[in-house]
Amino acid sequence: MDNGVRSGVVQPAGSLCQVMTDDFDAADFARQFRAFMTAVSRLAPAEKPSALRQQLESHLGREPDGLPVLTDSFPVFEHPNVQVALDAYLDAPGRTADLLGISGANREHHGLADIVNATGRHQQFEVGAVDYVSVPVAVDTDMTCVSFGLLLVVSSDDRLVVLMRVGARRTGSQQVQLEVLTADVDVARRFLDTIRKLAVEHSVFRGQVLSFESHEFADGLGPLRFHRRPEVDQADVILPPGALKALHRHVVGTTEHRARLQSAGHRLRRGVVLYGPPGTGKTHTLRHLIGRAPAATVLIVTGFSAQFIREACTLARTLEPAIVVLEDVDLVAQGREHPSAALTNPFLAEMLNMMDGMAEDADVTFLLTTNRLEVVEEALVQRPGRVDLLVEVPLPDETGRSRLLALYGRALLLSDTDVSRIVASTSGVSASFFAELGRRAELLAATSGDARADVGHVMRALDELHDSRSAFGKRR
Ligand SMILES: Nc1ncnc2c1ncn2[C@@H]1O[C@H](COP(=O)(O)OP(=O)(O)OP(=O)(O)O)[C@@H](O)[C@H]1O
Ligand SMILES: [Mg+2]
Repeated sequence: MDNGVRSGVVQPAGSLCQVMTDDFDAADFARQFRAFMTAVSRLAPAEKPSALRQQLESHLGREPDGLPVLTDSFPVFEHPNVQVALDAYLDAPGRTADLLGISGANREHHGLADIVNATGRHQQFEVGAVDYVSVPVAVDTDMTCVSFGLLLVVSSDDRLVVLMRVGARRTGSQQVQLEVLTADVDVARRFLDTIRKLAVEHSVFRGQVLSFESHEFADGLGPLRFHRRPEVDQADVILPPGALKALHRHVVGTTEHRARLQSAGHRLRRGVVLYGPPGTGKTHTLRHLIGRAPAATVLIVTGFSAQFIREACTLARTLEPAIVVLEDVDLVAQGREHPSAALTNPFLAEMLNMMDGMAEDADVTFLLTTNRLEVVEEALVQRPGRVDLLVEVPLPDETGRSRLLALYGRALLLSDTDVSRIVASTSGVSASFFAELGRRAELLAATSGDARADVGHVMRALDELHDSRSAFGKRR
Protein backbone atom coordinates (compact mmCIF):
# COMPACT_ATOMS: atom_id res chain seq x y z
CA MET A 1 0.00 0.00 0.00
CA ASP A 2 1.40 3.32 -0.99
CA ASN A 3 0.90 5.54 2.05
CA GLY A 4 4.28 7.09 1.73
CA VAL A 5 5.82 4.35 3.78
CA ARG A 6 8.28 2.23 1.97
CA SER A 7 10.25 -0.48 3.46
CA GLY A 8 11.94 1.11 6.45
CA VAL A 9 11.97 4.65 4.98
CA VAL A 10 9.71 7.46 6.10
CA GLN A 11 9.79 10.29 3.61
CA PRO A 12 7.29 13.04 4.22
CA ALA A 13 7.83 15.52 1.40
CA GLY A 14 10.48 18.17 2.19
CA SER A 15 11.13 16.62 5.58
CA LEU A 16 14.55 15.91 7.10
CA CYS A 17 13.26 12.86 8.86
CA GLN A 18 14.86 9.86 7.42
CA VAL A 19 15.48 6.55 8.88
CA MET A 20 18.94 5.37 8.08
CA THR A 21 18.74 2.30 5.98
CA ASP A 22 20.85 0.79 3.33
CA ASP A 23 19.68 3.32 0.77
CA PHE A 24 20.41 6.37 3.13
CA ASP A 25 21.97 9.17 1.06
CA ALA A 26 24.44 10.98 3.38
CA ALA A 27 25.30 13.74 0.89
CA ASP A 28 21.66 14.54 0.36
CA PHE A 29 21.08 14.57 4.11
CA ALA A 30 23.96 17.01 4.65
CA ARG A 31 22.66 19.35 1.98
CA GLN A 32 19.20 19.37 3.50
CA PHE A 33 20.60 19.80 7.02
CA ARG A 34 22.67 22.84 5.99
CA ALA A 35 19.66 24.42 4.37
CA PHE A 36 17.70 23.79 7.54
CA MET A 37 20.35 25.43 9.76
CA THR A 38 20.60 28.46 7.51
CA ALA A 39 16.83 28.88 7.61
CA VAL A 40 16.81 28.61 11.41
CA SER A 41 19.68 31.09 11.92
CA ARG A 42 17.88 33.59 9.66
CA LEU A 43 14.85 33.35 11.84
CA ALA A 44 16.80 33.83 15.14
CA PRO A 45 17.26 37.51 16.22
CA ALA A 46 20.82 38.65 15.35
CA GLU A 47 23.10 39.51 18.37
CA LYS A 48 23.81 43.23 18.22
CA PRO A 49 27.48 44.13 18.68
CA SER A 50 28.11 46.54 21.56
CA ALA A 51 28.49 50.24 20.84
CA LEU A 52 32.09 49.97 22.06
CA ARG A 53 32.72 47.15 19.61
CA GLN A 54 31.19 49.13 16.77
CA GLN A 55 33.28 52.19 17.57
CA LEU A 56 36.45 50.13 17.70
CA GLU A 57 35.67 48.45 14.39
CA SER A 58 34.72 51.60 12.59
CA HIS A 59 37.82 53.40 13.94
CA LEU A 60 40.22 50.62 13.00
CA GLY A 61 38.43 49.75 9.77
CA ARG A 62 38.57 46.08 10.76
CA GLU A 63 37.93 43.73 13.65
CA PRO A 64 40.22 44.46 16.57
CA ASP A 65 40.67 40.84 17.64
CA GLY A 66 44.16 39.53 17.34
CA LEU A 67 45.84 42.93 16.91
CA PRO A 68 49.02 43.43 18.95
CA VAL A 69 48.95 45.50 22.16
CA LEU A 70 52.08 47.29 23.39
CA THR A 71 52.34 48.66 26.94
CA ASP A 72 54.49 51.27 28.63
CA SER A 73 54.29 52.20 32.30
CA PHE A 74 55.35 55.20 34.31
CA PRO A 75 55.61 55.84 38.06
CA VAL A 76 52.38 57.42 39.30
CA PHE A 77 54.02 60.81 39.92
CA GLU A 78 54.56 61.04 36.14
CA HIS A 79 50.78 61.08 35.55
CA PRO A 80 50.53 64.79 34.62
CA ASN A 81 53.54 64.44 32.33
CA VAL A 82 51.93 61.55 30.48
CA GLN A 83 48.77 63.65 30.14
CA VAL A 84 50.62 66.70 28.78
CA ALA A 85 52.57 64.43 26.45
CA LEU A 86 49.33 62.98 25.04
CA ASP A 87 47.89 66.48 24.66
CA ALA A 88 51.04 67.67 22.88
CA TYR A 89 51.02 64.60 20.62
CA LEU A 90 47.42 65.27 19.60
CA ASP A 91 48.12 68.96 19.06
CA ALA A 92 50.34 68.17 16.08
CA PRO A 93 48.77 68.65 12.63
CA GLY A 94 47.11 65.62 11.08
CA ARG A 95 46.21 64.08 14.41
CA THR A 96 42.83 63.77 16.08
CA ALA A 97 41.35 61.59 18.78
CA ASP A 98 38.02 60.66 20.31
CA LEU A 99 38.07 60.07 24.03
CA LEU A 100 35.74 57.37 25.36
CA GLY A 101 35.05 56.12 28.84
CA ILE A 102 34.48 52.47 29.57
CA SER A 103 31.92 51.02 31.93
CA GLY A 104 31.89 47.50 33.25
CA ALA A 105 32.69 45.68 36.45
CA ASN A 106 36.34 45.48 37.46
CA ARG A 107 37.46 47.23 34.30
CA GLU A 108 40.49 48.60 36.15
CA HIS A 109 41.79 45.06 36.48
CA HIS A 110 41.67 44.44 32.75
CA GLY A 111 44.22 45.31 30.14
CA LEU A 112 43.32 46.64 26.72
CA ALA A 113 43.48 43.20 25.07
CA ASP A 114 41.02 41.78 27.62
CA ILE A 115 38.63 44.69 27.17
CA VAL A 116 38.69 44.45 23.39
CA ASN A 117 38.21 40.68 23.42
CA ALA A 118 35.33 40.93 25.84
CA THR A 119 33.49 43.39 23.56
CA GLY A 120 33.42 40.63 20.94
CA ARG A 121 32.04 37.84 23.08
CA HIS A 122 30.22 38.46 26.32
CA GLN A 123 30.08 42.24 26.08
CA GLN A 124 31.38 42.81 29.56
CA PHE A 125 32.36 46.41 28.76
CA GLU A 126 30.47 49.28 27.20
CA VAL A 127 31.02 52.91 26.36
CA GLY A 128 30.73 54.89 29.60
CA ALA A 129 31.96 58.02 31.31
CA VAL A 130 35.66 58.94 31.23
CA ASP A 131 37.34 58.82 34.67
CA TYR A 132 39.36 61.89 35.58
CA VAL A 133 41.50 62.73 38.55
CA SER A 134 42.87 66.04 39.74
CA VAL A 135 46.59 65.99 40.45
CA PRO A 136 48.89 68.70 41.81
CA VAL A 137 51.37 70.11 39.34
CA ALA A 138 52.77 72.97 41.43
CA VAL A 139 52.33 74.33 44.96
CA ASP A 140 48.87 75.80 44.39
CA THR A 141 47.95 74.35 41.02
CA ASP A 142 46.10 71.19 40.09
CA MET A 143 45.61 69.61 36.70
CA THR A 144 42.83 67.30 35.51
CA CYS A 145 44.16 64.07 34.06
CA VAL A 146 42.40 61.05 32.57
CA SER A 147 42.70 58.16 34.98
CA PHE A 148 40.78 55.63 32.89
CA GLY A 149 39.94 56.38 29.30
CA LEU A 150 40.23 55.11 25.77
CA LEU A 151 41.56 57.28 22.97
CA LEU A 152 40.70 56.45 19.37
CA VAL A 153 43.64 58.14 17.70
CA VAL A 154 44.00 59.02 14.03
CA SER A 155 47.53 59.97 13.00
CA SER A 156 47.84 60.37 9.21
CA ASP A 157 47.01 56.90 7.90
CA ASP A 158 47.45 55.14 11.21
CA ARG A 159 44.62 54.15 13.51
CA LEU A 160 45.51 53.54 17.14
CA VAL A 161 43.49 52.61 20.21
CA VAL A 162 45.15 53.87 23.39
CA LEU A 163 44.09 52.98 26.92
CA MET A 164 45.38 55.23 29.69
CA ARG A 165 44.82 53.94 33.18
CA VAL A 166 46.21 54.40 36.66
CA GLY A 167 46.32 51.22 38.63
CA ALA A 168 48.20 49.21 41.17
CA ARG A 169 50.68 46.73 39.84
CA ARG A 170 51.12 43.33 41.37
CA THR A 171 53.84 44.87 43.53
CA GLY A 172 51.19 47.22 45.00
CA SER A 173 52.92 50.31 43.63
CA GLN A 174 50.76 52.66 41.59
CA GLN A 175 51.61 52.99 37.93
CA VAL A 176 50.32 54.92 34.98
CA GLN A 177 49.91 52.53 32.09
CA LEU A 178 49.58 53.33 28.43
CA GLU A 179 48.47 50.46 26.22
CA VAL A 180 48.35 50.78 22.47
CA LEU A 181 46.50 48.54 20.03
CA THR A 182 47.13 49.00 16.34
CA ALA A 183 47.63 46.90 13.24
CA ASP A 184 51.36 47.60 12.97
CA VAL A 185 53.49 46.98 16.04
CA ASP A 186 56.11 49.48 14.82
CA VAL A 187 53.48 52.22 14.78
CA ALA A 188 52.66 51.37 18.41
CA ARG A 189 56.33 51.43 19.37
CA ARG A 190 56.89 54.78 17.69
CA PHE A 191 53.83 56.19 19.44
CA LEU A 192 55.07 55.10 22.89
CA ASP A 193 58.59 56.44 22.18
CA THR A 194 57.13 59.78 21.15
CA ILE A 195 55.02 59.99 24.31
CA ARG A 196 58.10 59.28 26.45
CA LYS A 197 60.04 62.06 24.73
CA LEU A 198 57.15 64.52 24.96
CA ALA A 199 56.68 63.70 28.66
CA VAL A 200 60.25 64.90 29.30
CA GLU A 201 60.01 67.85 26.92
CA HIS A 202 56.79 69.14 28.50
CA SER A 203 57.43 67.91 32.04
CA VAL A 204 55.50 69.90 34.61
CA PHE A 205 58.41 69.31 37.01
CA ARG A 206 60.92 71.34 35.01
CA GLY A 207 62.30 74.23 37.05
CA GLN A 208 60.33 73.23 40.16
CA VAL A 209 61.45 72.40 43.68
CA LEU A 210 60.35 68.87 44.53
CA SER A 211 60.96 66.52 47.39
CA PHE A 212 60.48 62.81 47.77
CA GLU A 213 58.80 61.81 51.03
CA SER A 214 58.61 58.29 52.33
CA HIS A 215 55.19 58.92 53.88
CA GLU A 216 52.09 59.83 51.92
CA PHE A 217 50.20 62.16 54.26
CA ALA A 218 50.83 65.45 52.53
CA ASP A 219 49.33 66.54 49.22
CA GLY A 220 51.26 65.40 46.22
CA LEU A 221 51.76 62.76 43.62
CA GLY A 222 52.71 59.51 45.27
CA PRO A 223 55.93 60.27 47.10
CA LEU A 224 56.49 63.60 45.31
CA ARG A 225 55.85 66.99 46.96
CA PHE A 226 56.00 70.47 45.46
CA HIS A 227 57.61 73.39 47.28
CA ARG A 228 57.94 77.10 46.75
CA ARG A 229 61.46 78.08 45.75
CA PRO A 230 63.03 79.46 48.90
CA GLU A 231 64.27 83.02 48.94
CA VAL A 232 67.14 83.52 51.34
CA ASP A 233 69.24 86.64 50.76
CA GLN A 234 72.97 86.32 50.56
CA ALA A 235 73.24 88.88 53.39
CA ASP A 236 71.23 86.55 55.63
CA VAL A 237 73.67 83.66 55.32
CA ILE A 238 76.57 84.08 57.71
CA LEU A 239 79.37 81.70 56.78
CA PRO A 240 83.16 81.78 57.16
CA PRO A 241 84.81 84.06 54.58
CA GLY A 242 84.99 82.64 51.07
CA ALA A 243 82.61 79.73 51.67
CA LEU A 244 79.59 81.24 49.96
CA LYS A 245 81.64 82.48 47.02
CA ALA A 246 83.03 79.01 46.39
CA LEU A 247 79.54 77.54 46.63
CA HIS A 248 78.13 80.04 44.15
CA ARG A 249 80.94 79.32 41.73
CA HIS A 250 80.40 75.57 41.77
CA VAL A 251 76.62 75.41 41.87
CA VAL A 252 75.54 78.46 39.84
CA GLY A 253 78.75 79.34 37.99
CA THR A 254 79.00 75.94 36.32
CA THR A 255 75.57 76.34 34.72
CA GLU A 256 76.33 79.93 33.68
CA HIS A 257 79.56 78.83 31.98
CA ARG A 258 78.55 75.37 30.83
CA ALA A 259 79.31 75.98 27.16
CA ARG A 260 82.82 77.15 27.92
CA LEU A 261 83.50 74.30 30.34
CA GLN A 262 82.23 71.74 27.87
CA SER A 263 84.17 73.09 24.93
CA ALA A 264 87.29 72.92 27.08
CA GLY A 265 86.47 69.24 27.68
CA HIS A 266 85.40 69.50 31.33
CA ARG A 267 82.57 67.75 33.07
CA LEU A 268 79.50 69.56 34.38
CA ARG A 269 78.34 67.04 36.95
CA ARG A 270 79.56 68.08 40.38
CA GLY A 271 79.32 67.10 44.02
CA VAL A 272 79.31 69.52 46.96
CA VAL A 273 79.28 68.55 50.63
CA LEU A 274 78.27 70.88 53.46
CA TYR A 275 79.25 69.50 56.83
CA GLY A 276 79.17 70.76 60.39
CA PRO A 277 77.32 70.56 63.74
CA PRO A 278 73.53 70.97 64.00
CA GLY A 279 72.11 74.47 63.61
CA THR A 280 75.11 75.99 61.85
CA GLY A 281 73.25 76.73 58.62
CA LYS A 282 73.70 73.82 56.21
CA THR A 283 70.02 73.69 55.26
CA HIS A 284 69.83 77.50 55.40
CA THR A 285 72.73 77.74 52.94
CA LEU A 286 71.32 75.27 50.50
CA ARG A 287 67.98 77.07 50.58
CA HIS A 288 69.87 80.20 49.58
CA LEU A 289 71.67 78.33 46.78
CA ILE A 290 68.39 76.91 45.43
CA GLY A 291 67.04 80.47 45.26
CA ARG A 292 70.15 81.55 43.36
CA ALA A 293 69.54 78.93 40.66
CA PRO A 294 65.99 79.81 39.55
CA ALA A 295 66.10 77.70 36.39
CA ALA A 296 67.29 74.55 38.13
CA THR A 297 64.96 71.66 38.83
CA VAL A 298 65.57 70.74 42.46
CA LEU A 299 65.04 67.22 43.78
CA ILE A 300 65.28 66.86 47.54
CA VAL A 301 65.88 63.49 49.16
CA THR A 302 66.57 63.02 52.87
CA GLY A 303 68.10 60.11 54.69
CA PHE A 304 64.55 58.98 55.51
CA SER A 305 63.48 58.81 51.87
CA ALA A 306 66.72 57.43 50.49
CA GLN A 307 64.83 54.75 48.57
CA PHE A 308 63.88 57.43 46.04
CA ILE A 309 67.44 58.34 45.10
CA ARG A 310 67.14 56.50 41.80
CA GLU A 311 63.93 58.33 40.80
CA ALA A 312 65.39 61.68 41.88
CA CYS A 313 68.54 61.14 39.82
CA THR A 314 66.58 60.03 36.77
CA LEU A 315 64.48 63.19 36.95
CA ALA A 316 67.59 65.33 37.47
CA ARG A 317 69.23 63.88 34.38
CA THR A 318 66.22 64.48 32.17
CA LEU A 319 65.35 67.91 33.57
CA GLU A 320 68.81 69.48 33.84
CA PRO A 321 70.05 71.94 34.94
CA ALA A 322 69.22 70.27 38.21
CA ILE A 323 70.25 70.10 41.84
CA VAL A 324 69.87 66.86 43.75
CA VAL A 325 69.80 67.68 47.45
CA LEU A 326 70.68 64.79 49.70
CA GLU A 327 70.12 66.02 53.25
CA ASP A 328 71.58 64.26 56.28
CA VAL A 329 73.42 61.63 54.28
CA ASP A 330 74.86 60.21 57.49
CA LEU A 331 71.38 58.90 58.35
CA VAL A 332 71.64 56.39 55.58
CA ALA A 333 74.69 55.04 57.36
CA GLN A 334 73.23 55.29 60.87
CA GLY A 335 73.78 52.48 63.32
CA ARG A 336 77.07 51.54 61.78
CA GLU A 337 79.90 51.49 64.25
CA HIS A 338 82.80 51.73 61.91
CA PRO A 339 82.96 54.46 59.28
CA SER A 340 83.86 52.01 56.53
CA ALA A 341 80.58 50.20 57.24
CA ALA A 342 78.98 53.09 55.38
CA LEU A 343 80.38 51.59 52.23
CA THR A 344 78.23 48.52 52.64
CA ASN A 345 75.07 50.48 53.43
CA PRO A 346 72.72 49.79 50.52
CA PHE A 347 71.29 53.32 50.34
CA LEU A 348 74.65 55.00 50.50
CA ALA A 349 75.93 52.53 47.93
CA GLU A 350 72.94 53.34 45.71
CA MET A 351 73.55 57.06 46.13
CA LEU A 352 77.21 56.69 45.19
CA ASN A 353 76.29 54.49 42.24
CA MET A 354 73.87 57.08 40.99
CA MET A 355 76.44 59.85 41.46
CA ASP A 356 79.05 57.84 39.60
CA GLY A 357 76.58 56.69 36.98
CA MET A 358 75.33 60.19 36.15
CA ALA A 359 76.82 61.25 32.83
CA GLU A 360 79.66 63.73 33.19
CA ASP A 361 78.01 66.15 30.79
CA ALA A 362 74.87 66.30 32.96
CA ASP A 363 74.43 69.79 34.39
CA VAL A 364 73.60 68.34 37.80
CA THR A 365 74.87 69.34 41.24
CA PHE A 366 74.74 66.81 44.04
CA LEU A 367 74.40 68.89 47.18
CA LEU A 368 74.98 66.79 50.27
CA THR A 369 74.71 67.75 53.93
CA THR A 370 75.89 65.87 56.97
CA ASN A 371 76.55 66.31 60.69
CA ARG A 372 79.04 63.48 60.72
CA LEU A 373 81.48 63.77 57.90
CA GLU A 374 83.62 61.02 59.38
CA VAL A 375 80.83 58.49 58.73
CA VAL A 376 80.58 59.19 55.03
CA GLU A 377 83.94 60.76 54.22
CA GLU A 378 85.67 57.57 53.18
CA ALA A 379 82.86 56.59 50.84
CA LEU A 380 82.58 60.06 49.31
CA VAL A 381 86.20 60.81 48.68
CA GLN A 382 87.13 57.26 47.73
CA ARG A 383 86.62 58.02 44.06
CA PRO A 384 87.82 61.30 42.53
CA GLY A 385 85.08 63.29 40.85
CA ARG A 386 82.39 62.42 43.37
CA VAL A 387 82.99 65.49 45.52
CA ASP A 388 84.44 68.67 44.09
CA LEU A 389 83.91 70.93 47.04
CA LEU A 390 83.86 70.16 50.73
CA VAL A 391 82.59 73.13 52.76
CA GLU A 392 82.78 73.20 56.52
CA VAL A 393 79.90 75.02 58.19
CA PRO A 394 81.36 75.40 61.69
CA LEU A 395 80.07 76.91 64.90
CA PRO A 396 80.43 80.68 64.41
CA ASP A 397 83.59 82.39 65.61
CA GLU A 398 83.59 85.84 67.21
CA THR A 399 83.14 87.67 63.90
CA GLY A 400 80.41 85.27 62.87
CA ARG A 401 78.60 85.74 66.16
CA SER A 402 78.60 89.52 65.93
CA ARG A 403 77.28 89.31 62.34
CA LEU A 404 74.58 86.90 63.50
CA LEU A 405 73.65 89.20 66.37
CA ALA A 406 73.39 92.09 63.90
CA LEU A 407 71.18 89.96 61.65
CA TYR A 408 68.80 88.48 64.21
CA GLY A 409 69.01 91.39 66.64
CA ARG A 410 68.18 94.10 64.08
CA ALA A 411 65.30 95.34 66.20
CA LEU A 412 67.26 95.30 69.49
CA LEU A 413 68.51 98.45 71.17
CA LEU A 414 72.17 97.58 71.78
CA SER A 415 75.32 99.64 72.29
CA ASP A 416 78.72 98.49 71.00
CA THR A 417 79.60 97.44 74.53
CA ASP A 418 76.42 95.38 74.77
CA VAL A 419 77.25 93.66 71.51
CA SER A 420 80.79 92.79 72.67
CA ARG A 421 79.39 91.44 75.94
CA ILE A 422 76.84 89.23 74.22
CA VAL A 423 79.34 87.97 71.64
CA ALA A 424 81.82 87.13 74.39
CA SER A 425 79.25 85.18 76.36
CA THR A 426 78.03 83.08 73.43
CA SER A 427 81.18 81.19 72.55
CA GLY A 428 80.36 77.66 71.35
CA VAL A 429 76.72 78.26 70.38
CA SER A 430 75.37 77.55 66.91
CA ALA A 431 74.12 80.14 64.43
CA SER A 432 70.53 79.04 65.01
CA PHE A 433 70.98 80.06 68.65
CA PHE A 434 71.06 83.72 67.55
CA ALA A 435 67.80 83.42 65.65
CA GLU A 436 66.21 82.11 68.84
CA LEU A 437 67.96 84.71 71.03
CA GLY A 438 66.59 87.60 68.96
CA ARG A 439 63.09 86.12 69.04
CA ARG A 440 63.08 85.51 72.79
CA ALA A 441 64.41 88.96 73.67
CA GLU A 442 61.69 90.54 71.54
CA LEU A 443 59.04 88.33 73.14
CA LEU A 444 60.25 89.16 76.66
CA ALA A 445 60.07 92.88 75.88
CA ALA A 446 56.63 92.53 74.32
CA THR A 447 55.17 90.55 77.23
CA SER A 448 56.68 93.04 79.71
CA GLY A 449 55.05 95.90 77.83
CA ASP A 450 58.40 97.48 76.88
CA ALA A 451 58.54 99.45 73.65
CA ARG A 452 61.99 98.19 72.56
CA ALA A 453 64.00 95.12 73.53
CA ASP A 454 67.38 96.05 75.00
CA VAL A 455 70.39 94.39 76.55
CA GLY A 456 68.41 93.52 79.71
CA HIS A 457 65.97 91.42 77.71
CA VAL A 458 68.82 89.85 75.74
CA MET A 459 70.66 88.86 78.94
CA ARG A 460 67.49 87.29 80.36
CA ALA A 461 66.90 85.45 77.08
CA LEU A 462 70.54 84.30 77.13
CA ASP A 463 70.14 82.90 80.65
CA GLU A 464 66.98 81.06 79.64
CA LEU A 465 68.61 79.60 76.56
CA HIS A 466 71.75 78.58 78.41
CA ASP A 467 69.58 76.99 81.12
CA SER A 468 67.56 75.00 78.64
CA ARG A 469 70.72 73.95 76.82
CA SER A 470 72.27 72.67 80.05
CA ALA A 471 68.98 71.03 81.04
CA PHE A 472 69.09 69.12 77.76
CA GLY A 473 72.75 68.39 78.42
CA LYS A 474 71.99 66.91 81.87
CA ARG A 475 69.27 64.73 80.48
CA ARG A 476 71.62 63.13 77.99
N1 LIG B 1 75.02 80.42 59.05
C1 LIG B 1 73.81 80.95 59.33
N2 LIG B 1 73.53 82.20 58.96
C2 LIG B 1 72.32 82.74 59.24
N3 LIG B 1 71.35 82.06 59.87
C3 LIG B 1 71.57 80.81 60.25
C4 LIG B 1 72.81 80.19 60.00
N4 LIG B 1 72.78 78.94 60.47
C5 LIG B 1 71.57 78.77 61.00
N5 LIG B 1 70.83 79.88 60.87
C6 LIG B 1 69.43 80.02 61.35
O1 LIG B 1 69.10 78.85 62.07
C7 LIG B 1 68.08 78.10 61.42
C8 LIG B 1 68.41 76.62 61.49
O2 LIG B 1 69.61 76.32 60.78
P1 LIG B 1 69.76 75.12 59.76
O3 LIG B 1 68.50 74.34 59.73
O4 LIG B 1 70.26 75.65 58.48
O5 LIG B 1 70.88 74.25 60.46
P2 LIG B 1 71.55 72.93 59.93
O6 LIG B 1 73.01 73.17 59.89
O7 LIG B 1 70.91 72.49 58.70
O8 LIG B 1 71.24 71.94 61.13
P3 LIG B 1 71.06 70.35 61.12
O9 LIG B 1 72.43 69.77 61.06
O10 LIG B 1 70.41 70.07 62.42
O11 LIG B 1 70.23 70.00 59.96
C9 LIG B 1 68.06 78.65 60.02
O12 LIG B 1 66.76 78.53 59.47
C10 LIG B 1 68.46 80.09 60.20
O13 LIG B 1 67.35 80.87 60.64
MG1 LIG C 1 69.76 70.79 58.20
